[in-house]
Amino acid sequence: MPTKSAKYQLTNLSTGKSSELESFSPTVGPDVLNIAPLNKDHGLFTFDPGFMSTASTESKVTYIDGDKGVLLYRGYPIEQLAAKSSFIEVAYLLIYGELPTAQRLAEFQSSITRHSMINESLLRFYNGFQYDAHPMAQISAVVASMAAFYHDSLDIYNARHREIFAHRIIAKIPTISAAAYKHMLGQPFMYPKNDLDYCGNLLQMFFAVPCEPYVVEPVYAQALDLLLILHADHEQNASTSTVRLAGSTGTNPYAAISAGIAALWGPAHGGANEAVLEMLEEIGTVDNIDKFLGRVKDKQDNTKLMGFGHRVYKNFDPRAKIIREACHKVLAKLGRSDNPLFELALRLEEIALKDEYFVSRKLYPNVDFYSGIIYSAIGIPRAMFTVMFAIARTAGWVAHWQEMISDPGMKIGRPRQLYTGQTSRDYVPIEQR
Ligand code: CMC
Repeated sequence: MPTKSAKYQLTNLSTGKSSELESFSPTVGPDVLNIAPLNKDHGLFTFDPGFMSTASTESKVTYIDGDKGVLLYRGYPIEQLAAKSSFIEVAYLLIYGELPTAQRLAEFQSSITRHSMINESLLRFYNGFQYDAHPMAQISAVVASMAAFYHDSLDIYNARHREIFAHRIIAKIPTISAAAYKHMLGQPFMYPKNDLDYCGNLLQMFFAVPCEPYVVEPVYAQALDLLLILHADHEQNASTSTVRLAGSTGTNPYAAISAGIAALWGPAHGGANEAVLEMLEEIGTVDNIDKFLGRVKDKQDNTKLMGFGHRVYKNFDPRAKIIREACHKVLAKLGRSDNPLFELALRLEEIALKDEYFVSRKLYPNVDFYSGIIYSAIGIPRAMFTVMFAIARTAGWVAHWQEMISDPGMKIGRPRQLYTGQTSRDYVPIEQR
């Protein structure tokens, strides 16, 4: 139970009825008011569209300080994890709560490697899709259908079943994603290879073909690993909240993760990385930036500066800083420092950060602003950008789902509403309307 910090009094000024509300102190961050007694004491619900002021749950997984630009996974700063860790180690950290010993890491790695194949029948699902079906539609559908294949570990109240699920989904999501990509290309599916690490294997399944050998480019694998670390979790974002809400009904975890993939797809969330590249290509050259920003600032025009702004960060998104730095390094290592889209993005950021519209609204580049530049440089096509985000975020979704299900106080998520529709009225027969 979190510690209680202060008492607040709520008084109905019309009736004079009062009640005390208590706030909870987190380990770090602002206090949270416990409004649970409001309904019992006053018959009141709170109204907070978009959850602007609402903490939906208690959690120990990830902490963000949006004003200072701080992001911690289980207490570890994202900058340290990005510099020193690996995606597999970060996935372990998110799920188990502590960094693994060398032995635990080796066991986890081996378990993930050995769960990476998918049931052959699942592969046939892809044939039901047109070659141009968006891969997010494909992976969301295939993940949802996994519950029909892995019956042996679907008891959500059994800790070992949950662990098997966790390893399975983290191991199989790259395979499922690569199968969607190969289906789009019309190329044969490439089976996972157990002698490769997580990112090497992912690249192999995406880019190898059966007719020739494939050698993993270490610069690509390292860049991908970094991007997966940075996208692995972000506390109660829209897709994670979706996983929690779906999971709170007691549905199987594959269905909950599939719901999270669907939520991630939207351009306000994970779909922004794809939209950023589309936007940069539309802008084309530095000369067009002012005209484009004019459209962004015009409230009659629905254009957004994609990859900018964040519900929580009112300062630099620390992930964007790391990715911008990584863009310089990766492009230099690949001998492609003169990347025109990167040049354009840098200039766009510079201009926007001096513009009163963005300054006054505290709009800064977010994780999606530069990620597409790296994905493109390592050969990942635009349609797969959000899929890469989903592969990484699967670790976070699993950690949050586990945290929720293992909480003995778990309740079904069931928000209320401010009803503004018709009051009760009598049915009118059709001839009288
Ligand atoms: N371009 C132009 N104006 C913006 C932008 C933007 N990217 N983002 C916010 N604003 C404006 C918004 O119009 C509003 O202006 P006003 O006060 O005049 O009405 C003000 O800034 C506050 O924005 P908001 O929409 O109320 O903020 P929000 O917290 O509801 O939305 C957001 C956050 C991320 C959905 C939004 O900033 C956005 O749509 N950004 C572009 C899409 C994007 O990059 N999404 C990725 C987010 S990070 C990764 C992830 O979550 O997956």
